[in-house]
Amino acid sequence: MAKIEVENIYKIFGPRPQRWLQAAREGISREDLLASSGHTLGLRDISLSIEEGSIHVIMGLSGSGKSTLIRHFNRLIEPTAGRIRVDDVDVMSLGVRELERFRQQKMSMVFQRFGLFPHRCVLDNVAYGLQIQGVERKERERRAMHWVEQVGLSGYEKQFPHQLSGGMQQRVGLARALATDAEILLMDEAFSALDPLIRREMQDQLLQLQSRLNKTIVFITHDLDEALRLGNRIAILKAGELVQEGTPEDILLAPADDYVQAFLQDVNRSKVLNAAHACNAATLSLTTRSQPAHAVELMARKNLRFTPVLDGKRLFGVITRQAAERALREGARDISQHVESMATVPANAGLDEVLGRMLSSTEPLAVTDENNEFVGVLSRSKVVELIRPALSAEADSDEPGDSSGTTQRSAA
Ligand SMILES: Nc1ncnc2c1ncn2[C@@H]1O[C@H](COP(=O)(O)OP(=O)(O)OP(=O)(O)O)[C@@H](O)[C@H]1O
Ligand SMILES: [Mg+2]
Repeated sequence: MAKIEVENIYKIFGPRPQRWLQAAREGISREDLLASSGHTLGLRDISLSIEEGSIHVIMGLSGSGKSTLIRHFNRLIEPTAGRIRVDDVDVMSLGVRELERFRQQKMSMVFQRFGLFPHRCVLDNVAYGLQIQGVERKERERRAMHWVEQVGLSGYEKQFPHQLSGGMQQRVGLARALATDAEILLMDEAFSALDPLIRREMQDQLLQLQSRLNKTIVFITHDLDEALRLGNRIAILKAGELVQEGTPEDILLAPADDYVQAFLQDVNRSKVLNAAHACNAATLSLTTRSQPAHAVELMARKNLRFTPVLDGKRLFGVITRQAAERALREGARDISQHVESMATVPANAGLDEVLGRMLSSTEPLAVTDENNEFVGVLSRSKVVELIRPALSAEADSDEPGDSSGTTQRSAA
């Protein structure tokens, strides 16, 4: 279910935005709009749906409109045109009082530079949102203390922000956002000011908290590795426009344009993509009860030297064409006695691990899921293509049988 939905949002900054809306709709460039009118095109025709309980990452270069977009979700910024709905509430229809309550209860923000109050201790910083909501002191301190513990800051509750490291200050910011029990967290470059190790720890902590809390989190970052680690989905903005939106795999496997491609350049693809991405779903699979004549006929027609054999949905093993022909000569009732065992890799194994397996053996590898069910046969050329898209042309020509549904048995 969509928790936040924006439709056809336009944002033009400047004294008379409505006057330039039509030009923006007709596609005037940012530069031309600025030169001819002094107005800045913040966002153009953004539609986005953010699922309840997901982490939705928003990426893009500086100035691409990320902060502008998420500030629309709680109407810190008013759109020039377009609709915003949160939980089926039309945010644009809220009056002043309603909007205030909506902001206090529905959403909380975590900022890049922590935004802590320097003269309040940790506990009072964390309790701030509750104080605004009118929760009485004892109760808000009890609740704030709970979140101080949750982010691993027990013992520091009476310290002041300047006595804490950056990572600790960001934990305070996170605890403060969580303390109000808001269902939605808006995190604008929340971890960007932290050094890499601490940043990773914070990512882990967020994922850990999220697995229990199931919030809807909108997370802005410049960092693709962070986006891929955290995001259930990723939206990529370019100069105020949405250029691509999808799962991390969607984006890695099919970047929409050069801008997205440039983001992907340095990413460690072999950690994000796994064996399931690199297998050919078998168009042809035999079962233990298949008759030898049928097996021989199928493999001959598809020009395969081997094919996997299933028992129900599970992998039973692999049969070579020679073995099937032998079974046929011997008059066997089915092929079950002629099946050899087949090596497997788990579907969720990262391609770095898969590559290791590929290099240590020339045997075909079956990909199986957590229930030991057959997913497909690993395609060596797909592994190479996914890890290094540029090398894929060479790999393809090495392996002509690869597109037919299973790989050829290279050792045979
Ligand atoms: N209040 C404002 N008045 C005029 N222009 C603005 C205003 N706020 C943002 N802009 C412009 O809108 C564009 C998008 O800004 P925004 O802050 O959303 O970018 P961003 O993607 O968050 O960038 P960064 O990664 O640097 O934080 C920029 O060109 C900026 O100059
Ligand atoms: Mg920003």
